[in-house]
Amino acid sequence: MSKTWKTKLIHPDAHAPKGFQSLATPTYRGSTVLFPNAAAVQDTWDQHAVGYTYGLYGTPTTIELAARVCELENGYRTFITPGGQAAISLINFAFLKSGDHILVPESVYSPNRWFTAKVLSRFGIEVGFYSPTIGAGIQSLLKKNTRLVWCESPGSITMEVQDIPAIAEAAHKSGALVVLDNTWSAGIYFDAFAHGVDINMQALTKYVGGHSDFLLGSVSVRDEALYQKLGATHQLLGFAASPDDCSLALRGLKTLAVRIAAIEKSALTLAQWLSTRPEIELVLHPALPSCPGHEFFKRDFTGSTGVFSIVFQRHFTKEKVHAFVNSFQLFKIGYSWAGVTSLAVAYDLSSRPHRPDYTHRIVRLNIGLEDTSDLQTDLAQSLERIR
Ligand SMILES: Cc1ncc(COP(=O)(O)O)c(C=O)c1O
Repeated sequence: MSKTWKTKLIHPDAHAPKGFQSLATPTYRGSTVLFPNAAAVQDTWDQHAVGYTYGLYGTPTTIELAARVCELENGYRTFITPGGQAAISLINFAFLKSGDHILVPESVYSPNRWFTAKVLSRFGIEVGFYSPTIGAGIQSLLKKNTRLVWCESPGSITMEVQDIPAIAEAAHKSGALVVLDNTWSAGIYFDAFAHGVDINMQALTKYVGGHSDFLLGSVSVRDEALYQKLGATHQLLGFAASPDDCSLALRGLKTLAVRIAAIEKSALTLAQWLSTRPEIELVLHPALPSCPGHEFFKRDFTGSTGVFSIVFQRHFTKEKVHAFVNSFQLFKIGYSWAGVTSLAVAYDLSSRPHRPDYTHRIVRLNIGLEDTSDLQTDLAQSLERIR
């Protein structure tokens, strides 16, 4: 049919030549997905089973990212979420119902703790917190209605490495599922499913992204039954991830190996050097014997990444610890981690229940891709200023 220029804005006859091939995954944006005929229209979330039906459930960009994360984590299937925290809430909403009990480590990422305490408790879910070093002792905390055992290894800020196989064995005997926040290992250095985990999540915001410029999360599961359960909830929560962000994550994957290797080397050098400094009581880096659970790191991990904490000697006041962080010339102050820029955050654990006695003396460092000797000089000059 003949068309006016206004209609041609929507239905053009002009097209670019076909046949373009590049090394980058195309960024497919879209809410509407076209169907070939009226009978083919359906609103089904499982794009692997039925093909594409609606942008909410993923475009080829989103689903390629999911498939590639899944392949690296040796999972069955993976969902992409708009952030790591969204991955955490998706898991809880998908697997819990009123009357269930869950166990969460005291060392868990704080917003995960707050979600359980402030949101899940409103839906009649009972939450118990446990020491991250509990290992097989978790058995005594498991109840008939314990549905999920959350793990995070190493834990946030205090860095305890958990005995995941022992926890998984006890949880499975009691019919509970094991969920792991595996962000620190980038889903690479700890093979979650081989160690008994059922649901493995990470904030792709961190190492997969690697440049501090987007938020995304992933949830991988070990089998079809878990995939079905997760997918049905993912659909109804409306957790759409931006294909633009997914394309950045796909780009991040290509350089993950070299970034993570350089960061690992630099972080280890700096952690070892810091452990020789008289101002520092403890270096909490999983690859050093001073870190709680180091034996499980040696047994279960194939490498380390760039986040670790230092604890100052007892005589350092909060003001001195803050002065240390404020004196940096290269390290910046800010949340999130795993980007190319080194970061430092001082924490005060005094008011947090059942935490080690590090109080205001703990600083978490994220080692980026600056030259290691420049970072060491920056740490040294900041330490000198507070002596
Ligand atoms: C261990 C851990 N899990 C989850 C998250 C949440 O990720 P996001 O910032 O993408 O929501 C973070 C963020 O700092 C984290 O450190």
